[in-house]
Amino acid sequence: VTTSLRTDPAGGLLLNGTENAAHQSGGDLLVLERGSGSHVFDTSGRKYLDGLSGLYCVQIGYSYGSELAAAATTQLESLCYAPLWSRAHPAAIELAERLSDIAPAHLNHVFFTAGGAESVESAWKLARQYHVERGDLGRLKAIARRNAYHGLTLGALALTDRASLTEMFGAPAIPVHRVSDTSGFGLGLDESELCDRLIGEIEAAIEAEGPDTVAAFIAEPVQNHGGCLMPPAGYWQRLRALCDRYGVLLIADEVITAFGRLGEWFGSDVLGIEADIVTLAKGLTSGYAPMGAVLVADKVADVLTRPGVVLNHGFTFGGHPVTAAIALKNLEIIERDGLLDRAKEIVPVFASAMRELQQIPLVGEVRGTGLFMAVELAYPDGSTLDDRHRKELVGDYISPALQEAGLLARVFSDPYPGVQLAPPMVTEPADIATMVAMVREVLVEASSRLG
Ligand SMILES: Cc1ncc(COP(=O)(O)O)c(C=O)c1O
Repeated sequence: VTTSLRTDPAGGLLLNGTENAAHQSGGDLLVLERGSGSHVFDTSGRKYLDGLSGLYCVQIGYSYGSELAAAATTQLESLCYAPLWSRAHPAAIELAERLSDIAPAHLNHVFFTAGGAESVESAWKLARQYHVERGDLGRLKAIARRNAYHGLTLGALALTDRASLTEMFGAPAIPVHRVSDTSGFGLGLDESELCDRLIGEIEAAIEAEGPDTVAAFIAEPVQNHGGCLMPPAGYWQRLRALCDRYGVLLIADEVITAFGRLGEWFGSDVLGIEADIVTLAKGLTSGYAPMGAVLVADKVADVLTRPGVVLNHGFTFGGHPVTAAIALKNLEIIERDGLLDRAKEIVPVFASAMRELQQIPLVGEVRGTGLFMAVELAYPDGSTLDDRHRKELVGDYISPALQEAGLLARVFSDPYPGVQLAPPMVTEPADIATMVAMVREVLVEASSRLG
């Protein structure tokens, strides 16, 4: 047996969404090995404030490992695995009940998956089967927003809008009509004008495609990609009415916005959304195990559970007993330790610190809600950064400078350049202040580099 000697710091690991060549020879790969509260530590012991909750998932922070390990151990000692194909197990049943309890009242059925993209694809397939069972066979199209990210498996990829991620993979698995995202920055419209325009565009899209060909509209309560794009007031309520008028199902992709991210159990609670289907993942287990779920409204479930209807979908690991046990414990911890209340306490601290960033010349707009906020970067006259500044200022300076300062944040230059924070619910107010101060310092320096 020979052991290959590797010189690349990532070993043979292929990193996701990354130029892997950049890490083959240099030593700049951040390798995280430990976490505590809202902090993570790299292999050299360096400490970082986690301003991104891992990847929008570690809602309860990093200090509950022993408790979640005990829940996993108990489950493993009794039953390591059981499928949800024509059978069930107590952890999945209990978790489905628990999710129905905390979800908006009309969502009482749950389909389990192993992650966000699987949840999105499952939502699509359940929506499609709902229409087929009702004899509405022609509803094969989806409406989704521009610049939206819904995952990268082929079905979810069809709903995702980013040329670099989609183009090389050929025709999308789902025919999708794109409508505008909800960014109003630079448009010069007030909220109600923006709302009229967006809803009008969606209605025109349904009419143009043919109302009886559209199966579902999918969007996030607050869109992540583009930097916490808020809907104008009334948007989701008018969407609900529009979908009802045309028989289109409304899917809320809450893979990011659920489990306290916006300050309540669900983004739907915060924004008064009445979706027919809700996709979940990430915070369901706080990232302590991979799991996703799809919440299904009674209206849809009533059709899918009719006598004679076989649900044509499933995964070996959907609702795995160990991940279900971890999710149950995660939800128990959020409730027992009052973490939603804790989030509500730090939200005003976070919001006011973030809003103060508006004074920095390079900051065009501050937006978002709950523990999910971003700044869009722009020139002082409000115009958008050119390609050179997106690369040299945003990519080459702001991004490494924040990490160098000890903060893990999301820095992006496409479609709108910006910096985003999504801290864990357990972050201390002082650490919230420190995070935003780090962003401020780097953006002030970036502004001065602008000249
Ligand atoms: C809104 C949204 N939907 C779906 C996904 C896909 O989730 P996953 O990466 O678990 O497949 C993501 C991932 O970030 C997401 O942000």
